[in-house]
Amino acid sequence: IRQPSSKSKPISMPVIGLGTAAEHNDVEVVKSAVIEAIKMGYRHFDTAAQYGSEQALGEAIAEALQLGLIASRDDLFITSKLWCCDNHPHLLLPALQNSLQCLKLDYLDLYLIHWPISAKPEKRYMPYSEECLVPFDLKGVWAAMEEAHRLGLTKSIGVSNFSCKKLKNLVSFATIPPSVNQVEMNIAMQQKNLREYCKAKDIIVTAYSPLGAKGTKWDINQVLDNELIKQIAQDHGKTAAQVCLRWLFEQGVTLIPKSYNKERLKQNIEIFDWSLTKDDHEKINQVKQDRMFKDGPAGFPLPDLFDGET
Ligand code: A2P
Repeated sequence: IRQPSSKSKPISMPVIGLGTAAEHNDVEVVKSAVIEAIKMGYRHFDTAAQYGSEQALGEAIAEALQLGLIASRDDLFITSKLWCCDNHPHLLLPALQNSLQCLKLDYLDLYLIHWPISAKPEKRYMPYSEECLVPFDLKGVWAAMEEAHRLGLTKSIGVSNFSCKKLKNLVSFATIPPSVNQVEMNIAMQQKNLREYCKAKDIIVTAYSPLGAKGTKWDINQVLDNELIKQIAQDHGKTAAQVCLRWLFEQGVTLIPKSYNKERLKQNIEIFDWSLTKDDHEKINQVKQDRMFKDGPAGFPLPDLFDGET
């Protein structure tokens, strides 16, 4: 996907990336999944300071270069994210430097504000309670993001888990507008309004949990077990996961399915040589909608986290 012209430099971003958010990230498991993924043609990898996968991803990239699986680091698109405890103007650059060090890289392709909330600097680990949070200085943090971009530490900058209301506010003062908003999006959280707004503002939407975070404690919608999706999959001779991913692709978003399994990694990029029908789309539009991450990372209700947007 190529972001159309806007005040910031347009970015090109591979449609499918490998997500690395998992409840537990084992270095060797992540590393071998990334190497396998690169061999299969994945060029986009999504990580975050919070996931515990930056180190393994960095090792895998170094090994892929050494093995000649890729000619240069520039062949990859690497995203990382600023964690809530570093969501303060003076802590952003050190946090980004730390991510770069873990990844053994000298620049990111995309750096995102992970959540629109700030935790006290010493509160790196969840669970959070209300006393852990402090007011979020978006203007100051975004200025630090722009500085990171100017310093060449990241080719583009963006946000994650921002509502339309929060994006509108950001766009109203940003010198460099966000390139991306990464949000929960799948057949059970279709994000129609947010996508329309992002399209109008040339902001690329990246869908996290495209398979509904199958198998995790957040998996409330069971999208891969949805009977309609299973039926559509059967009609096309595809898997339920491929139907979910193809549907996202046809919405014009980028997507980051997570799998550390060779067969499923392969399955998840084989979505480009077939398409869903109009009838499939009409049925998928009717799927009951529900957000998994209602309380964000805080684990308790924050009434303005998504500003009442569904
Ligand atoms: P695994 O790593 O064992 O493949 P999401 O991308 O929505 O966060 O979902 C990730 C979850 O979905 C992981 O538990 C992953 O398990 C599982 N998964 C990924 N790809 C597939 C697939 N093609 N079929 C079934 N499950 C999948």
